[in-house]
Amino acid sequence: MKIIDGKAISETIKKEIATEVAALIDAGKRAPHMAAIIVGHDGASETYVASKEKNCRLVGMTSSVYRYEENISEADLLAAVEFLNNDPDVDGFIVQLPLPKHIDENKVIAAIRPDKDIDGFHPCNMGKLVLGQDTFIPATPCGIMELLKRADVETAGKHCVVIGRSHIVGTPMALLMSRNSSHANATVTMCHSKTPDLKAMTTQADILIAAVGKPEMVKGDMVKEGAVIVDVGVHRIPDPTKASGFKLVGDVDFASVSPKCSAITPVPGGVGPMTIAALLMNTMKAYHIHTAK
Ligand code: GUN
Repeated sequence: MKIIDGKAISETIKKEIATEVAALIDAGKRAPHMAAIIVGHDGASETYVASKEKNCRLVGMTSSVYRYEENISEADLLAAVEFLNNDPDVDGFIVQLPLPKHIDENKVIAAIRPDKDIDGFHPCNMGKLVLGQDTFIPATPCGIMELLKRADVETAGKHCVVIGRSHIVGTPMALLMSRNSSHANATVTMCHSKTPDLKAMTTQADILIAAVGKPEMVKGDMVKEGAVIVDVGVHRIPDPTKASGFKLVGDVDFASVSPKCSAITPVPGGVGPMTIAALLMNTMKAYHIHTAK
């Protein structure tokens, strides 16, 4: 059984990006700039945004974070989006999700300029993804595709089962794996909360992508011998033996699944670091779009 080391692969990608950014600066150009909007004080969102900032710094990009209180009005948030749309120094930005209930998430995402939408969530960019056109691919599925490619996981002709149908992970993941392109060309089955016999599906998977959102839900008896397992979940579970008081686990029960599979992404150190690397890749893409204009 091989551990697919997302941390190491993301470090390689970040080195490649850092080299590219250094060359731009040596040539007298400005550094790429990523911005993030965060509303409220959700712990997980704070962690993600802090990690995005830190990784921008590590590769030589600049970044900024716009923080708003939980009670910001939708109109004021839309105005903040418009400000970043028009700021020539910002190549790309994200609005960290989830947003408070009184704000229409779809309306906010639709207000982001598609050529600055480094999350790839805008309907135009999602549409392009469906059509197989060049666009910003949402960071988690983009990172997973890059991970499978760089870890030499064969996808062509394989049966890939995706558990989860979110706009952020499951839906784009299924589209990308079924695309007619190198490092894709899988036959894809998409499962979700209304799939009657999940185990009957997952045991047929050559590649199983778990984006369920439930800690350690995928057990060893749900996995085919020799399958490749991609674990998208990140959950904090209380653990008194740790100084922090918690440990991180995924959607996959590592203890029962790892002995059966041929390769698996660990939590932490699998998909998580690749998501950040993919967001940096998207920021580079946005930079090139803006500087070419
Ligand atoms: N919340 C959880 N994942 C994401 C993501 O990839 N992008 C944004 N904007 N918010 C998120």
